[in-house]
Amino acid sequence: MSKIILSEKPGPIGIFDSGYGGLTILKHIQGTMPEYDFMYLGDNARTPYGTRSFQVVYEFTLQCVTKLFEMGCHLVILACNTASAKALRTIQQIDLPRLDATRRVLGIIRPTVESIGELTVSRHVGLLATPGTVKSLSYPLEINKLFPDITVTGESCPIWVPLVESGESQSDGADYFVKQHIDNLLAKDSEIDTIILGCTHYPLLLDKIRKYVPEGIKIVSQGEYVASSLKNYLERHPEMDARCTKGAATSYYTTESLDTFLPNASIFLNSAIDADSITL
Ligand code: DGL
Repeated sequence: MSKIILSEKPGPIGIFDSGYGGLTILKHIQGTMPEYDFMYLGDNARTPYGTRSFQVVYEFTLQCVTKLFEMGCHLVILACNTASAKALRTIQQIDLPRLDATRRVLGIIRPTVESIGELTVSRHVGLLATPGTVKSLSYPLEINKLFPDITVTGESCPIWVPLVESGESQSDGADYFVKQHIDNLLAKDSEIDTIILGCTHYPLLLDKIRKYVPEGIKIVSQGEYVASSLKNYLERHPEMDARCTKGAATSYYTTESLDTFLPNASIFLNSAIDADSITL
């Protein structure tokens, strides 16, 4: 891919996910940093990413990040664990220097991992995530860099994202699959006292997850940790903060048709929104 011409004008913070899941992160970020502008891009037409190969997730993520840069963002958050696990490092190391070395792309695994040391007492942590995130071993590797004494056990939940994307997160049928994966995880390690929801779609299943996780086990969803980490990042990087506009506005884009995106996104956000459908 050749070099692209990007505007130097300040712009919104880009928030990217394969679909609706990143909206759960956006909500927390908007709550923590209400004065900033945001641009959300959901690649709903190609979701789920979690069952795709490393190369495909990387290529799709790079296309979406490039699009957000072209639409004016200087800073993009991969509000998607699968993309953070499989594409972030290559984009940071290989693509950013080529596209524009002053722009930044940040993931959401690190902020989540940093919170874990204080939460677990038994030092046994469970991870519920997409097959891609579990297989990448990003969570155990990152957690063990900071906390070598913690044992991390993963359980892939390949059907949870399709349940959310197809509007079935509240249905009775979803209970079966939610319970199945929680039971599988706890059967692998009965000492788990903290479970990470390592996929941004999963907070949309939170009521059902709470129903099947035994009392006393903490459930960690990522929004608040990502939001406070981003705020902290911008305080430490005033040069990037100056390139983020502050007008308290959010624009929404999807690669899917609006007929599908708008009703679902409005349910997840608890308010009606406007959006545009784009091609990459
Ligand atoms: N929301 C995404 C994540 O956090 C992913 C899912 C998918 O497209 O499979 O992993």
